[in-house]
Amino acid sequence: MKLKIAVLPGDGIGPEVTNVALDVVKAVCRRFGHTLDYATAIAGAGAIDAVGSPYPEETHQLCLDSQAVLFGAIGSPKYDNNPTSKVRPEQGLLAMRKKLGLYANIRPIMTFPKLFHKSPLKEEVIRNADFVCIRELTGGMYFGRPQGRSEDGTQAYDTCMYSRDEITRIVNLAYEFASRRRNKVTVVDKANILATSRLWREVAQEIAGNHPEIATDYLFVDNAAMKLIQSPRDFDVIVTENTFGDILTDEAAVISGSLGMLPSASIGTFTSVYEPIHGSYPQAAGKDVANPLAAVLSASMMFDYSFQLQEEAAMVKASVEKVIEEGVVTMDIVQDGCRAYRTSEVGTRLVEIIERF
Ligand code: IPM
Ligand code: MN
Repeated sequence: MKLKIAVLPGDGIGPEVTNVALDVVKAVCRRFGHTLDYATAIAGAGAIDAVGSPYPEETHQLCLDSQAVLFGAIGSPKYDNNPTSKVRPEQGLLAMRKKLGLYANIRPIMTFPKLFHKSPLKEEVIRNADFVCIRELTGGMYFGRPQGRSEDGTQAYDTCMYSRDEITRIVNLAYEFASRRRNKVTVVDKANILATSRLWREVAQEIAGNHPEIATDYLFVDNAAMKLIQSPRDFDVIVTENTFGDILTDEAAVISGSLGMLPSASIGTFTSVYEPIHGSYPQAAGKDVANPLAAVLSASMMFDYSFQLQEEAAMVKASVEKVIEEGVVTMDIVQDGCRAYRTSEVGTRLVEIIERF
């Protein structure tokens, strides 16, 4: 099979971890006889510096012309805490989500027995936790207008807006996922307070009615935040709006023991984007110490979702499990008293494992 992918390494540790993911993708393609056709493009702070836009048109065209996008991370301290700078790297991410129509962000939360001790939660709480957060990604407060300041600058406002259609497509997706998993959907909202949440709940209840074989739970987001780390095993598929999903998925990362482990897929109208959920981690940039496993697991999701290559996806995941078992891992997840490996060393080992599987 021929695979055409766009690679957007981005800022900070993005290039290092994406490089490892790309090496893994190449190794899998060699192994299975696929032809890989890839091209790299700029995004984020680097793109602002180079051409003045965090998501240049050329980058967008490449994404549209590809079957999948491997994305690193964007963000730079140069633009943080600087409310006066007109263009910020994060706007590139939002522009990409909107222009590619990436309305669903899928973040699977999984655990690895060797990393139980890295989580601040007790092993008996997190053991076998395995659920998927489906976050709506192109609506809500992130995109609602009006947004801004009052004329005298003393007040600011954002708008949270959702249409029936936006809610319907994402909730339907959650039921699709649940039907291939453990048949349980948890709808997270704040329907006791917010009008948008009441519409979410109304739509979700209608859809739930069409799926008697699937159990549906409704939780207010504050309660969900508590239950998520109190009894993570109770969840199978969580579906929620943009801002709630942003917050809950960072919280859920605690279950895995390291933000450096969690992949994501953003899917929608055009090309899907695969990206680690950690950010650009500028402090570690260029040091060859960042954990590449979230980026590699994102590549596994790419084989699965964009190419329906399940065997390839499973092999990538198995190679990650193997390096964790062997202890060939970066400093964030290394066992006490063991040596930490560099990002590139983990990459080399992953490729060896794939070649020998
Ligand atoms: C994420 C990130 C982004 C978001 C930022 C960088 C704009 O936190 O992908 O979760 O808030 O969506
Ligand atoms: Mn986030």
